[in-house]
Amino acid sequence: MEKPFSQEMLQRLLAGVAFVSRAVYFPSAASTNDALKRMAAEGAPEGTLIVADEQTAGRGRLDRRWIALPGSSLLLSILFRPTAGAKHLPDSLCRGEKSPQANASPLHLTMVCSLAARDAIREVLGLEIALKWPNDLVHEGRKLGGILTEIAGDSEPVQHAVVGIGINANWDPSAAEFDQPATSLSNLAGRSIPRGELLRGIVAAVAERYAALRAGASPAKEWEAALETVGQSVTVQSPTGILEGVATGVDADGALLVRSADGQVHRVVAGDVRVRSPRR
Ligand code: BTN
Repeated sequence: MEKPFSQEMLQRLLAGVAFVSRAVYFPSAASTNDALKRMAAEGAPEGTLIVADEQTAGRGRLDRRWIALPGSSLLLSILFRPTAGAKHLPDSLCRGEKSPQANASPLHLTMVCSLAARDAIREVLGLEIALKWPNDLVHEGRKLGGILTEIAGDSEPVQHAVVGIGINANWDPSAAEFDQPATSLSNLAGRSIPRGELLRGIVAAVAERYAALRAGASPAKEWEAALETVGQSVTVQSPTGILEGVATGVDADGALLVRSADGQVHRVVAGDVRVRSPRR
């Protein structure tokens, strides 16, 4: 196992990232998302972060388990309070931009964090990865990380949200039995991954992209360009049923647009997407 993180290391790594109000290190946690949700309920401020070296009950979307070899991955959760301090203006008064509270859905935060992880992986490691709608970090169809965005209650605009980021850094998950093929950054880079540097890069990029979101800009166009899902034939299993078609893009709120055989375009906001055939 590589050198674990420590509280001092986190402090040093994240010094100067203005968005971070408090960073807490757990050598082991059941789930960093669960720990941060408890802190959020007790009033922790926006920009509170938890980083762990191990999770004993890590979770993915749709109640799947998130498995990571201890000390091998980046496991972190970030607390957002996207409507705190925002002026609640109607969109009509926002000069062509959406109002800040309109950009406060779970998908907006997923977009911000997945793009930030991609930015940092490029900047720190020189690797170009792609994204799979709605929350996977992938490389050539193999999953190397995921985002789990959880909100308090089910109301929008979001009062507070905990976004968990899990990235396979220094282990080889390719032989493990997951529901989709997996890889890791060390597999892709062919070398050991400096987790601290990557952590700092991700948090700094989240801070920058979140500030833009709060200022009213949607990351959807950039996200669409990064999604390997777009242009593919897909099967979507969503709460409303199964849909087959071609993913043609996303709208400004990050919903996936799927054109079915009858030419109808469906807007998907939640679900599991399987790619049926390569990009056309
Ligand atoms: C997914 O791909 O379904 C999302 C995976 C998210 C995993 C991260 S690891 C840190 C945080 N804590 C959790 O329990 N899950 C997220």
